[in-house]
Amino acid sequence: MLMASTCLVLVLLVLSDVVAAERLNDHFESQQEAVAEVSIANVVRVQVAEGSWFDLNWTRPETPRLDAISSAPSSMIQSESPPSCDDARWTAGFKTLGKGAYGSVYTVQDNKRSLMMSGKKQRFYAAKIPSKGGEEEARREIEVLTKTKELNCLHVLKLVEKDPCMKISGKDYFLKDSFVVDLLPSDLHQIRSSVPAKCFRPVFDAIRSGLDCLHKAGYIHGDLKPDNVLFEATDDDGCPTGIQLADFGLSKKIGEFTPKFPFPFYLRCYHEPATMFGEIPDMFNVSAWKPYGGRMKWHFQADPRLDECSFALLMYNLFGERVPEIQEELGGRGACGPMGPKRLLEMP
Ligand SMILES: Nc1ncnc2c1ncn2[C@@H]1O[C@H](COP(=O)(O)OP(=O)(O)OP(=O)(O)O)[C@@H](O)[C@H]1O
Ligand SMILES: [Mg+2]
Repeated sequence: MLMASTCLVLVLLVLSDVVAAERLNDHFESQQEAVAEVSIANVVRVQVAEGSWFDLNWTRPETPRLDAISSAPSSMIQSESPPSCDDARWTAGFKTLGKGAYGSVYTVQDNKRSLMMSGKKQRFYAAKIPSKGGEEEARREIEVLTKTKELNCLHVLKLVEKDPCMKISGKDYFLKDSFVVDLLPSDLHQIRSSVPAKCFRPVFDAIRSGLDCLHKAGYIHGDLKPDNVLFEATDDDGCPTGIQLADFGLSKKIGEFTPKFPFPFYLRCYHEPATMFGEIPDMFNVSAWKPYGGRMKWHFQADPRLDECSFALLMYNLFGERVPEIQEELGGRGACGPMGPKRLLEMP
């Protein structure tokens, strides 16, 4: 009796799995058909020109994640009892600069420099403290920033100290996997609707230089979007100056294989090329099945062309213009797969 009911439950489970899998397949197929249909009709320019719902300037792309992560920290210290340390160089807790999927960024003060000696600019820095579960991304970020510092990359954020000893509410804590970088007051997302057309060249050249140096260091950025490009100030023309690339939590070593992000991210995370998502055709042919967590999973190989797609979209987002150099390098329009909100745009 017990055996029979167990079997019945199993059969029902298997059946419901089959039905669910079929539904999922139907969903993916209809999504793919829709994508294929719109990608051949290049309707985007008309929609943008008419100022319709498709407005790149007002949409914030979502950063994909493979695993669940706790929400951004409400307090600065993640672990219950972080180890203490002596003679903290840094004092934290002035201002929260940003909260993202992987951690939070705060202003910190350098206790070793007196205000008289250094002036305001060098006395304040930014510290990124990972969210619980975001430590791996933080370690990757430190790895990348260490390499780009060795290469003296002019347009990549400067690492000042890793694993800092920090004074928080009067106590000194050793913050493993956190790091201190230069403080840059603004990011391109904040000025996305107001950046003058004449800034195209300086913005392009700075990001080009930052990306080239990062690629030379052996990494791709993997999450290039306006809010991950910081700058110091604006000049008399209203153009951002002191541009630096930031946020290397999703960076990959060039050639490294990474499991593809789940399909549902495809439409929401508009700034990454199609190659990086499951169920979507890979125009660059850098995908392969690899073992992952005891199963075979569809992976993509980190390739600088993936950043070029995001770069082209970023420039289009800010200036409404495609970048012909990138287009040529990638093998023509459509090489990245459809991009942008609702994935209608053939980039670059
Ligand atoms: N050095 C810095 N100086 C000033 N502001 C910064 C600095 N670093 C980061 N920020 C601010 O904090 C925000 C989040 O930082 P960052 O992108 O590194 O974190 P994240 O958790 O990976 O974010 P997301 O997942 O949203 O991309 C940035 O968009 C920026 O506004
Ligand atoms: Mg970010």
